[in-house]
Amino acid sequence: SIFCKYLGPSKYSFKCGILRPSSACESNFSFRSASSTKRTFVPFDTIIQNRRLEAQRSILVQVQSEKSCHDLFSFASQFGTVESMHHYSVPGQNHFVVVEMKDAQVTQKMLTKCGHLDKSQVVPVRSPFLWFRASKNKRNLVDEKEYVNINCDSHKVFPPSEEEITEQLAGCQTMAQQMTTLHQITKLNDINTRLRFLVAYQVERALSGLFPLCVIYPFGSSVNHFGKLGCDLDLVLQLDIQSKEDSDDCRLMFHCKSSLGSERSQTLRHLETVGDLLQLFLPGCSQVKRILGARVPIIKYNHDMTAVECDLSMTNLTALYMAELLYVFGEIDWRVRPLVFTIKKWAKDINLTNPTPGRWITNFSLTILTLFYLQSVKVLPSMKLLVDSASPKDRRVSEDGVNCTFLRDISKLQFHPSLPDSTDSLTTLLFGFFEFYSQFDFNTHGVSLYYGTPIPKPEYSALYINNPLERGLNVSKNVSFEELERLKVEVRNASWKLESTANSNNKTHTSLESWGILELCKKQNLSEKAKNVFFNDTMKAKERLVSIQDLFSEENNEESESILV
Ligand code: GTP
Ligand code: MG
Repeated sequence: SIFCKYLGPSKYSFKCGILRPSSACESNFSFRSASSTKRTFVPFDTIIQNRRLEAQRSILVQVQSEKSCHDLFSFASQFGTVESMHHYSVPGQNHFVVVEMKDAQVTQKMLTKCGHLDKSQVVPVRSPFLWFRASKNKRNLVDEKEYVNINCDSHKVFPPSEEEITEQLAGCQTMAQQMTTLHQITKLNDINTRLRFLVAYQVERALSGLFPLCVIYPFGSSVNHFGKLGCDLDLVLQLDIQSKEDSDDCRLMFHCKSSLGSERSQTLRHLETVGDLLQLFLPGCSQVKRILGARVPIIKYNHDMTAVECDLSMTNLTALYMAELLYVFGEIDWRVRPLVFTIKKWAKDINLTNPTPGRWITNFSLTILTLFYLQSVKVLPSMKLLVDSASPKDRRVSEDGVNCTFLRDISKLQFHPSLPDSTDSLTTLLFGFFEFYSQFDFNTHGVSLYYGTPIPKPEYSALYINNPLERGLNVSKNVSFEELERLKVEVRNASWKLESTANSNNKTHTSLESWGILELCKKQNLSEKAKNVFFNDTMKAKERLVSIQDLFSEENNEESESILV
């Protein structure tokens, strides 16, 4: 009943003031769902495609205040049907409204009717990022009733503060409830996802004159459904998505400039140019940094109107398929995401993870560790089962030949005899996670999502987590032996702590009390020595400030160049 309470209402999205069944943008199906209601599984491709189309139908408008929404609605309604409106505010800046029109062509028509202030003062760019100025004429507001139907709800685009999270978790009745609450209040919400796809579309639109078939896909935690409010936005740019096979049938061929030297130098020049474009022309994009020394070079920038930090790269689509793989695992069982969110919070709060990339474990590796544990207790199947169950339409091979084929539609997943229905509670799984890794032999074994069982360690590195898509690689090659030791100590501490808090689980808790996962996530009383080791490591790592892409480079390129910021 707890989960019906928390997950049940998500069957409907509260949009435009009325309860409507969720659009295909939000997936509501879990292969093993918490409630008994059967829900529909939405494939990852469909979610991405729907979000991209939604972005193409939308504009982001800066307004004076929330009160301008009715006026804006009346204005937009002159062009066509307004599908939805979503208001949010960014501290220090004005209020913003995402206006989604029903028809993309209407949105494009609206954009042709926009103007510039004083062309001598601004770069006269046209983009879906606009501001709504006060009308000189008397305003004709549409019928209040129509507006109420579209009810411009206000949304949070920022994560709740630590105090808010603590208060909510302290007020829960059970630890399992704390875990689902944490997931519900910190996961990326609809407005945040809309904004992320709009940010991607802004750059795609800017490049579309030269590259009409260019696509920018968000990947990583923005789309794998393990992302929390405030996480970064990882973007991958593909200049032309036409496949070689499609080109083979053409008789008229485009004249093009020849490539500049190696593929890498070409990517660097292109990224530099895109960086200039962002810096000089695109509204909202600020603090553009070119991080071009890593194996996977990126452009880092902030998007001020949406408060999103972006990392734009130009690699292949393997990273998007990785996000899809994690999404599929998260959909198979409703317990996966609350557990991953809890583990990530625990790791962040006790400083096992750090926003600055370095020699510590990353959220990505932690997520894989959690999925691997869930495979070991048969909550999740091995990836091999997903690969073996794939049909021809699941076939995906990235441009550089990485085979990313696996079953995408989990409603087709057959229960395997080795996968009895696990009924462990969330709390049991949390205990189990720490117990499992307290006993894991990291010296001799590595983690393989593909096999779902420990594998002999094939190389000399502290932590070996096999990349599930590129199986010759280790995604945690960056982790130092000291950091692995810390991880081992912390999982043992956590296991011990949970046992001692378990007894308090049945008590009635007051909202001021720190208990359950709050207690688990409390910073440890590290001995001074241990503290020093950590801080020395932190300082050393900060000196060689690296980008997340350094982690990729360490994965398979020992001689990667140092990072230039
Ligand atoms: P947060 O941003 O911390 O919320 O999680 P994230 O999963 O988005 O991680 P991050 O932004 O660091 O990386 C984005 C994506 O890049 C990940 O989801 C992975 O698909 C990929 N990635 C990150 N680190 C590695 C790595 O070490 N190896 C490989 N192969 N891919 C990685
Ligand atoms: Mg990320």
